Amino acid sequence: MREYVIGKLDEIPDGKGIAVQAGRREVAVFRVGREVFAIANSCPHKGASLCDGEVMKAEKMVRCPWHHWNWQLTDGKLETEPRQGLRKYEVALDGDDVILRI
Ligand code: FES
Repeated sequence: MREYVIGKLDEIPDGKGIAVQAGRREVAVFRVGREVFAIANSCPHKGASLCDGEVMKAEKMVRCPWHHWNWQLTDGKLETEPRQGLRKYEVALDGDDVILRI
């Protein structure tokens, strides 16, 4: 497992996502308050960048910007079909540093 310090918590706008390159993987990192979530950035449907999707903070979900499928930030599952999912990554806070583990 590799760790990437991807920045400070306040560099990620609350309720938004950013794209992060970690080795060869592009990861979407989302902030909901002091919680941070990381999932694969490419939507499995047609490849939209999920970091550009609308974050539903209360539900901890992101809505794909292209066809509005809702992905759960907590486990990467598709809201309407939990058998479908995308890769979820571990994120930790060390003080205000956001650390992505892949
Ligand atoms: S590309 Fe994400 S729902 Fe279609």
